[in-house]
Amino acid sequence: GPTLKEVAGRKGLRVGNAMGGGPDRFENPAYRALTARECHAVVCENATKWTALQPRPGVFDFKAADAIFAWARKEGLKRRGHTLVWQEDRWAPAWLVQYDFGAQPGREAERILSDHINTVTRHFGDDLYSWDVMNEAVDPATGGLRDSVLTRKLGGPLAQIDMCFRLAKANVPRAQLVYNDYMGPEVGATKHRAGVLRLLEALKARGTPVDALGMQSHVGPWSDLEAKGGKAPFREWRKFLDEVTGMGYQIVISEFDVSDRALPADVTSRDVGVAARAKDYLDVTLSYRQVTDFFMWGMADKANWLRQQKNMAMREHGMPSRTTAFDDDLSPKPLR
Ligand code: XIL
Repeated sequence: GPTLKEVAGRKGLRVGNAMGGGPDRFENPAYRALTARECHAVVCENATKWTALQPRPGVFDFKAADAIFAWARKEGLKRRGHTLVWQEDRWAPAWLVQYDFGAQPGREAERILSDHINTVTRHFGDDLYSWDVMNEAVDPATGGLRDSVLTRKLGGPLAQIDMCFRLAKANVPRAQLVYNDYMGPEVGATKHRAGVLRLLEALKARGTPVDALGMQSHVGPWSDLEAKGGKAPFREWRKFLDEVTGMGYQIVISEFDVSDRALPADVTSRDVGVAARAKDYLDVTLSYRQVTDFFMWGMADKANWLRQQKNMAMREHGMPSRTTAFDDDLSPKPLR
């Protein structure tokens, strides 16, 4: 049958995969080949994060990212970056969180932030067509903007976020610049969605150079409704997408995978349930022509972070998670 990139290409949509490191991912030739066959583009799962690129103050290490992008270039795959800043302190490098900013903390914070963004964006230059500039700046519990070790010294989160985008724009003016976050159609995400909309409005009002909203799209479970036999509240989701696109933003589906929690334990039912969740989400979301990209966060079950990270499916089902379109042997599943 046709590949994902052929199917999506007909709709003007770019398909991508996040390439991680290690034996089930970048070091597996069959997985690399699957990615090259099915996708137009790749992003690094971890290798272009601040923790990876600047592991110690002022010390940059581009080896892992360069290797992935060199392979991608050779395969004719486009390349995007994730993420210049990840706002939550627990995902920032420990050295930065513990850093002694000295007598002029504002100046020192600005020096560190601009040094990181300038060095990284200049290193990759026009090789990357798109960048997540800022990741997860909205606190889902309140909808307010998170504070971090940098925001407190740079005039608050909005000023700091604005600064990040302007620094990126100055270095890679042709790249698509993205604000990335994980809100979904869940009832429980009402505050988060509202907070993301407020942030996008505020950035627009400031003239901050943001081109797109990245929606991570770690899909489901929509247990609040599914438990009652219903579906996710897509009316609210459409309203959200209407508002985002109404402000003139493009949309990047940046980290797609599907939770297999709260589904029957047998493999067949789980796979069918996962595919159904994906279809419900994508039928609505992909109906917006502003969606430019569809990136999977790993495209085989064993290469997806949910298996290692939380292993909630293992706890629930006593079996490893099945959250993507391809099985452990890289054969297609119902979602594909
Ligand atoms: C995850 C990776 O998949 C893991 O390997 C890593 O240990 C932690 O980060 N939101 C994001 C991604 O923006 O960067 C995260 O990636 C998944 C959630």
